[in-house]
Amino acid sequence: MFEVLPQLSPDPILGLSAAFKQDTNPNKIDLGVGVYKDEQGNTPILSAVAKAQQVLLERETSKTYITPQGVQGFIDGMLSLILGDKSPVMLADRVAAVQAPGGCGSLRILAELLTRVNKDTKVWVSDPTWANHIPLIGNAGLAIETYPYFDKASASIRFDAMLDALKKVEKGDVVLLHGCCHNPTGADLTHEQWQAVMEVAKEREFLPFVDIAYQGFGDGIEEDAYGVRLLCENLPEVIIAASCSKNFGLYRERVGLAAIVTADTKTKSIAQAQIQNVARGIYSMPPSYGGALVDIILSDVALKQEWQSEVNEMRNRMRTLRSLLVDKLSEYGAQKDFSFVNQQKGMFSFLCISPEQVQKMRSEHSVYFVDSSRVNIAGISLSNVDDMAKAMVSVINS
Ligand code: LMR
Repeated sequence: MFEVLPQLSPDPILGLSAAFKQDTNPNKIDLGVGVYKDEQGNTPILSAVAKAQQVLLERETSKTYITPQGVQGFIDGMLSLILGDKSPVMLADRVAAVQAPGGCGSLRILAELLTRVNKDTKVWVSDPTWANHIPLIGNAGLAIETYPYFDKASASIRFDAMLDALKKVEKGDVVLLHGCCHNPTGADLTHEQWQAVMEVAKEREFLPFVDIAYQGFGDGIEEDAYGVRLLCENLPEVIIAASCSKNFGLYRERVGLAAIVTADTKTKSIAQAQIQNVARGIYSMPPSYGGALVDIILSDVALKQEWQSEVNEMRNRMRTLRSLLVDKLSEYGAQKDFSFVNQQKGMFSFLCISPEQVQKMRSEHSVYFVDSSRVNIAGISLSNVDDMAKAMVSVINS
């Protein structure tokens, strides 16, 4: 019966890994999937995580189900990481939250919840946005619209156009915003721009949906929460999907948080029961392992400090690699100024070259990145940056 299904083209991001594996060039470079890598190209288990695993091994006495909302210590720890220790919405008991299988699981169950509120809800996403946002949210049955976000020609945010579009969004529509380290562009809103978005949200009464998957990779763990905190402190309702894949390096454990800031405590209880019921109808119970590790880390002063310094180290390394790449491109004679890469934040940068040039990088130089020109900065290293820069220069100067 499955022969009726059409052949699919490869996933725009995951397909790159498969193509990279098949390439026999010993000097191939992988700047595709957003996974942190060290200088040797490995994605090691963070040392705070390795220690938490030992604690968990001794502490865990059963594999029976955990509660439907997930590990409560994980939820509390994550909420204070995202919203702050003295978050007014937490103090007012206005936040419903569940542990979900990854940031993706969180995005999906929140999208399903939105269909329960109104199946005709429109979700506005940035142009461009992470490719998987569209199926994760759209397949729940919601209509997807786009608002302008990034201008490739000037390598900057089209903020006026973005704001004009948001001013036309209707009451009850949902606007997806990247909490920090915008995927794929690496271009983040300034504090003033967040303020302006918050004011338009208040005026138009749309619901901000914040996807925060890279907290700590931009300017710092606290700093990267500026936008989401501003929205939560000034608006009656906000929904949040958070991921521990990148900042805790827990990719395969699928650890995420779905949170719903509601207008009052009574609605919080309703939202809590509804989101648990959504999850029950999709995957029934949350996984425990990754959430338990994050709980152990965030509730232990020494382990939390160790984790924070590991996040700082990853962030600083990616910053150094950005400027190294920019310097090397100029040293090898690039006819284009790439200094904008230094202003971008987090794991990704848009190199702002054409899809044809990206394909040439792949076919002629075995350098793999997404057609949009998004590169995973963490895939660059001291040993491949010269090859990468030379390849870029030969492609863009030709
Ligand atoms: C990415 O954007 O590369 C990551 O979030 C991994 C993925 O699943 O696409």
